[in-house]
Amino acid sequence: MSKTVTPSTYVRCLNFGLIRQLADFIDPQEGWKKLAVDIKKPSGESKYNQLHIRRFEGLIQMGKSPTCELLFDWGTSNCTVGDLVDLLIRNQFLAPASLLLPDAVPKTDQTFPLPSQETLPIQEKPVPPLDKEKTTTLPGMAQNHEYYSFPDSTSSDTNSVEFSDTRFHQFSFQELRSVTSNFDERPISIGGNKMGEGGFGVVYKGSISNRVVAVKKLAAMVDISTQELKQQFDQEIKTMAKCRHENLVELIGFSSDGDDLCLVYVYMPNGSLFDRLSCLDGTAPLSWHTRCDITQGIASGISFLHENHHIHRDIKSANILLDEAFVPKISDFGLARASGKFTHTMMTNRIMGTTAYMAPEALHGEITPKSDIYSFGVVLLEIITGLPAVDEQRDPQLLLNIKDEIEDEEKTIESYIDTKMNDWDSTSVENMYSIASQCLHEKKNKRPDIRKVSGLIIMGFIKHLLYVALGLIRSDIVPVPFNQSY
Ligand SMILES: Nc1ncnc2c1ncn2[C@@H]1O[C@H](COP(=O)(O)OP(=O)(O)OP(=O)(O)O)[C@@H](O)[C@H]1O
Ligand SMILES: [Mg+2]
Repeated sequence: MSKTVTPSTYVRCLNFGLIRQLADFIDPQEGWKKLAVDIKKPSGESKYNQLHIRRFEGLIQMGKSPTCELLFDWGTSNCTVGDLVDLLIRNQFLAPASLLLPDAVPKTDQTFPLPSQETLPIQEKPVPPLDKEKTTTLPGMAQNHEYYSFPDSTSSDTNSVEFSDTRFHQFSFQELRSVTSNFDERPISIGGNKMGEGGFGVVYKGSISNRVVAVKKLAAMVDISTQELKQQFDQEIKTMAKCRHENLVELIGFSSDGDDLCLVYVYMPNGSLFDRLSCLDGTAPLSWHTRCDITQGIASGISFLHENHHIHRDIKSANILLDEAFVPKISDFGLARASGKFTHTMMTNRIMGTTAYMAPEALHGEITPKSDIYSFGVVLLEIITGLPAVDEQRDPQLLLNIKDEIEDEEKTIESYIDTKMNDWDSTSVENMYSIASQCLHEKKNKRPDIRKVSGLIIMGFIKHLLYVALGLIRSDIVPVPFNQSY
């Protein structure tokens, strides 16, 4: 370490080699996100909002270090090494803090782990058992006397999860290779098998015994280790074994004998809600009627998850798949949330989810069902407006910010309604927007729970039918078939 570094040294004056060394500690497990959300302006407000964090996140794809970029950016505000060390200590990054100012770091018996290892102690509170599985308390739950159970992947079977007691079929990798034409990377539209890709791999269309399936071949597309990918694979299977509901996607089987782990799902012919709202591949716009049904279905799926002590943590339109009748099926809840020890680590160290949908407390690493409600609020805005949750060419870039514009009476929700629909009516759109707005409350305790949200959706639907029956709603609305298809 350079001898010239003192608490009053400006961060912008630190040499690049030292910043790189700090980044080696802070980049893994997205530690930088934790720091970014804790950096305040002199006014006390957060310096970095969700959009800034997304931008830093985007730099990873460009091969850059988000910690370095964060420190360069923050450094322009003349912050000092003292400020940085306080921030690091506050967030338990003791090793990098001691790299800067060894004397400032409280002495503990703890030996500093190497970068990329878990750095924080895990606090477990005793909880009443829900079932035979080990249960773990999450912050924000104990006070509500709610307990969420997580299968424990830290137990001795972590590395060789035994799924023989599940109903899932164990495929061989070769079998899945052959049903997906050797994992043909070309898009379906030009005769290939690739249906899409996300942060954890590529999804291929295949056919097994005349049944069309979706095969997700896991691969680390983002900054995630092979071990984390395996934990997520195990978690997906364990969760899917416990959660079956009309509005959750169904896992058929998996393969774990080849180079890559694979998950095999029931094929959803209408793709994702995200793709259908954007009319990808020239598909017809979803009618308002269909959108209302989809909304109800998603709420019902989330209700099931929450009632069964699961938090999704990555509710977004790309994770809502649509079957042949446009019935929504929530997907990826096993991949997005984790189990046992990993859950704790993520609470404290790793922030998961998709930033444009994330509640403020989720950005701080807190795990609560109310964050799913917030993300659902963003999905409701997407459904009303047909706009993506984030668009860098748009003002506002984050869709959730239209709420502020509407509250400030700069705009109305009517000015944002998706013009690709022609069967909407103001009463039900306003009702839907009102639900979205409640879900998007900054304070988690002010958001409705999913039961209340479902109730509000159903009430709105009944009110709509009543208005139609009483002739209070325009009769020139184009009627739409119940299950629109394209
Ligand atoms: N069961 C399925 N049936 C049909 N299409 C599917 C199925 N599962 C996934 N897809 C398609 O594959 C795409 C990629 O899915 P994937 O879950 O890998 O990524 P994502 O949801 O966009 O991002 P993330 O990795 O954050 O979940 C989806 O958007 C969807 O179009
Ligand atoms: Mg997904």
